[in-house]
Formats: sequence, C-alpha cells, structure tokens
Amino acid sequence: MRNRFRSGEAERSEGPRPRAGSPQTLDRRAFFKLSAAAAGAALANGLTPPQAFMPVQVAGAAETAGAPAFRFAYISDSHLYSRELNDRFARALLRAVDDVNAMDPQPDFVFYGGDLAQLGQVHELELGASIIRKVKAPLKVMVGEHDWYLDMGRRWRQLFGQPTYSWDHKGVHFVVLMSVLERDFWTKRRMTPMERMLTVAGLDNGVQSPFMVGRDNLEWLERDLRGRPANTPLIVFSHSPLYKLYKNWNFWTDDAEDVQAILTRFDRVVVIHGHTHQMLTHRIGNIHFHGLLSTAWPWPYAPQGMPELTVQMSRPDPFNPNDGCGDGEVLVHADGLVDKVYNLWNRSPITVARGYTESGGKECVPPKPNRPGF
Ligand SMILES: [Fe+2]
Ligand SMILES: [Fe+2]
Repeated sequence: MRNRFRSGEAERSEGPRPRAGSPQTLDRRAFFKLSAAAAGAALANGLTPPQAFMPVQVAGAAETAGAPAFRFAYISDSHLYSRELNDRFARALLRAVDDVNAMDPQPDFVFYGGDLAQLGQVHELELGASIIRKVKAPLKVMVGEHDWYLDMGRRWRQLFGQPTYSWDHKGVHFVVLMSVLERDFWTKRRMTPMERMLTVAGLDNGVQSPFMVGRDNLEWLERDLRGRPANTPLIVFSHSPLYKLYKNWNFWTDDAEDVQAILTRFDRVVVIHGHTHQMLTHRIGNIHFHGLLSTAWPWPYAPQGMPELTVQMSRPDPFNPNDGCGDGEVLVHADGLVDKVYNLWNRSPITVARGYTESGGKECVPPKPNRPGF
C-alpha cells in the first residue's frame, strides 16, 4: 500500500447539478428524514439505496448490532478574510455551521480542522471564532499554517488554547497534533511578520521549509500514548497529512515517518487531516488516512498522482464557487475505524466506509458519485 499512487486525472463524474427541491437543497434535518424514508422504501423493494443515503444506512446497521458507534461533525479550512474585503468565505463558514446545527440527532462534538484565517490577522481569527462558536455541540479546534505565521500563534492560542492536546470519548482516544511547524527561514532574510505569513501561504516558492510535527510534539505524543494498550481505538487529527504526498504544495509532513513509527504498535489508527481541501483517502499499514473538505475552495489533485484508495472527485465547476466545497461527519465504530462522509454542497454526499480502507479498497467500494436519479 505504501507509496503506490495512482496517476491520472479524475475519471468520475458527479452528475448534474442539484435541482430545486433535491436533497442538496434541503436542510440537514429534512435531508435525513427524506434519506431514512427513501432508504426504507428502497430496501423494501430489494434495492440498494443510492450512496446519498449511506450515512443513515450505516448508522442503523451499527446501532442494531449494538456497537457503541457515535458521530462527530467536521468543518475545515475556511480561510477568512475580513468581511469588508471578502465575505464569501465567511458566508460559506456560516453555511457549514448551519449544516451541523441542523443535524438530528446532534453530533457528539464538532471538529474544526484548521486554516480558520487566511493571513492570521486578529480580525480574521476573531471573526472565525465568533462564527464557529455558534455550533450547538461541543467544539474542538485545530490550528493551520494560515492561523499561525503572522504572530506565531499568539492570538490563536489566546482564543483556542494549546495546539496539541488529547482527550477520551466513549472509549476512543483522540489526539490533536500540531503538524505545521517550519524551520526558521525568516530571521536571516529579515522578513516582516506579514512577509513570513505570505511566504507560508504561498505554494512552490522554494523559500519556506516543509511542515513538521517537531521533536517536542513527537515526545509529547510518545508520552501521551505510553501505557495505552495496542487495541485502544485511536483517532489522530493533524492539519497537514501525516505522510508525504506532494512537497511543492506542502501536502507533506517532513517527519511523518517519525509519527507513524509511534503509531505503528496500535492495531488500528485513523488520521484525519485538513489542509488538502479535497476528498483524499490513504492507508499505510495500520494507519487509515482521511482528508477533510474545505468550506472555501477545493485544491486540485497533486500532479504526480494520488494514493490509490482515494475516491476522486471530478474537477470542480469553476463557475460555481461552492462546488468541491462542503463539510461532513464521521461515524466512529467501536474499534476506532470510521465511515467518513463528505457532504459536498453541490453534489451527492459521498461516504468512504470503514470496510473500504480495512479491505484495502476491495470491499465497500464507494459507488460512482454520479447519481442522476436523485
Ligand atoms: Fe487550507
Ligand atoms: Fe493549510
């Protein structure tokens, strides 16, 4: 599985844009009621429900099996400017908050995946904090590089606390790992804080260093996991993917192998990351990786190819600013593996089920996202 990337552009099509009154245009409560009714009708007729209904179907199966499954919602990569400059991204984040607040039942918590701000400015971070704090469920927040490199995380820490932390919830150990540290490229160049921030925000500039977790966080992780048995369900959040995908865009964590070495003794680990703004699935040994959608824009897929488990989305429609964006939810099974739901705002939702990554892509293969009948 390691480093076997499949090259080539997306071959899948997500089908026509949603019609008025279609499930994409319904609020989430109405969507789930419709989903449950339609899934029941489909099953009664011996039909497999379309993939848009999979979240309901999977949840039902887990509950009837007695598994202590639970859900959390996610929102990520909102990249807020000040409202006066550009309020589109703020409106997108408000839409995501409405989505998760309409979930019925409510998720156990809402996870924010980093890059709340575009240039780390106080008014951007405070605008973002004021919006994401409107979620009704408990909120957990992760830092991204866009939040950090103007003042080296000073305001972000005041708002949200330390960027590396952990907690336990219903038998699962959750870890949030700061993964966007960079070596000092700014001091000898005598950069201003904004020059530093703009450099980190850029791609392919050859100046910034690759992201890394860093020695202090690695030692913290070892201490945090020490003594926990190998069968502990473990979910790790990082902003950058904890593997090496494409260095020129910093889809990359330079000391990823050091993190993986710490995680390798566990039976199963799920790593959920932001930063890549796209559907992205990978597995290295016992570690199952899932990327988060952005509310702001989708990045294109890396030009040298993607991990072979990735369920690729077709090229987003450049004339629709919400296409390729969204939020989602994660259903956590008793063993810690997850069903990852991509709630694409302009397309059918897509679920990457636990069995898909567990079987190395042989089972539970997500259906083609093109579902013109719904
Ligand atoms: Fe981002
Ligand atoms: Fe990022």
